[in-house]
Amino acid sequence: MRRIGVIGAGYVGLTTAACFAHLGHRVVCADVDRRRVARLCRAEVDLHEPGLARLVAEGLREGRLRFVVGNREALSDVDFVFVCVPTPTGEDGSADLSAVRAVLREARELMAPDAVLVIKSTVPAGTTDRAAAEMEGHQVVSNPEFLREGHAVQDFLQPQRVVVGASVESAALRVLDLYSGTGAPVMVTTPTSAELVKYASNCFLAMKLSYVNALAELCEQIGADIGDVTEGMSLDDRIGASFLTPGPGWGGSCFPKDTKALLSTAESVDVDFSLLRATIDTNEHQPQRVVEKVRELLGPVEGRRIGLLGLAFKAGTNDLRDSPALAVAELLAEQGARLAGYDPCVDHGPVPVVSSVEEAATGASALLVLTEWPEFAELDWPDLASRMARPVIVDTRNLLPRDKVTEAGFTLLSLGTPASTTRPTTAGL
Ligand code: NAD
Ligand code: UDX
Repeated sequence: MRRIGVIGAGYVGLTTAACFAHLGHRVVCADVDRRRVARLCRAEVDLHEPGLARLVAEGLREGRLRFVVGNREALSDVDFVFVCVPTPTGEDGSADLSAVRAVLREARELMAPDAVLVIKSTVPAGTTDRAAAEMEGHQVVSNPEFLREGHAVQDFLQPQRVVVGASVESAALRVLDLYSGTGAPVMVTTPTSAELVKYASNCFLAMKLSYVNALAELCEQIGADIGDVTEGMSLDDRIGASFLTPGPGWGGSCFPKDTKALLSTAESVDVDFSLLRATIDTNEHQPQRVVEKVRELLGPVEGRRIGLLGLAFKAGTNDLRDSPALAVAELLAEQGARLAGYDPCVDHGPVPVVSSVEEAATGASALLVLTEWPEFAELDWPDLASRMARPVIVDTRNLLPRDKVTEAGFTLLSLGTPASTTRPTTAGL
């Protein structure tokens, strides 16, 4: 059993705190947000994250997990401090480290001399070494987090890897020991390499997706089918089958900011990373491409009601941060469309939210599938068609059963499928 302080009770901090408590450690989790802390003290978890609420309740009940306002307690009287505060995009595109710096200033005053400071926030290469230089003798270690939203607990307790970057081996071993209950493959390297592993991984996945999204656009023009193309690609073990589904663009709290931050790092040392710039540009073009598809079927959208199926940035989460669905909604709203959004896990947002797919469809001139919730593939298509002003669907996740949907009378457009099969006559619409 070790004493662990976790700074930040958001996605990463809360998962880290609850999971370490579950592994038997004694954890104090601190946040500056009083309301968040008050809710967590009552075991109320507002993240849609399987198993997390149960672990929080377990930790509180068994006395191994506490939530506090302010960082003092989580920085003093502990063996390890995990920094899990946000590192959003700054004005110039680089990572804004102000929250990390604020924690370091407090930590320097309050941490016991033999305690280890672990930076779990995603920070640019060099940050941990600079922090170590400022921390006057404390060990500072990089331990990036690779969890996916919607799988946070599983990814923390059964990770594909634990990466630790440390300049002193004993500090790395002490941090790795905390994870011994997980049986995860581990890797020890320098802080700078560990920091880069995190950015390199996220940016690689983003690059794979932008490649597929551009390929989907090409497929539409030359009469190929992206589903068949990616299936054929995935038979090569070196390529693999994951992250090959086209969509309205990649979003969420990590890919958009991490791609910008790595590009900024490259620029700061005069490395021309045009591949990364193209990855970002391709992504920023996707919401516009979706809107063009809607206009292809409807013409001007002004005054038309459009139902949005899915608002979260991906299925399995209620997170709206940098959601491509909202980027599409914003463009449609700018063009005068009247929007009704439905998402099984979102009850309010920046667009009017309704409480069922049927409500979103009623009176609509088009439905757009924007998040890949599996339930959207199993709807009562004839019923939905009968409720709509025009039975038109744009499926940006290539999720819907084409035959059933078109048999019900819908005109269906998806991404990366040949124009001849996806563009039935629009006359009379
Ligand atoms: P979040 O916004 O969900 O939570 C951050 C929390 O930190 C908030 O509750 C906020 O109130 C608190 N906070 C801010 N400043 C503070 C301070 N000075 N002292 C104490 N608490 C403070 O953020 P997140 O998604 O958990 O991300 C945290 C870090 O982890 C980021 O660097 C992010 O890139 C990285 N990360 C996130 C994910 C993810 O899927 N969300 C995955 C891997 C890594
Ligand atoms: C990501 C990384 O996967 C995770 O390792 C890291 O710790 C945090 O960032 P997350 O933000 O939860 O996790 O989302 P992820 O599942 O990676 O999806 C990112 C985006 O890509 C979503 O918008 C998703 O819809 C999109 N996506 C993913 C596709 O469009 N097609 C795919 O085939 C896969």
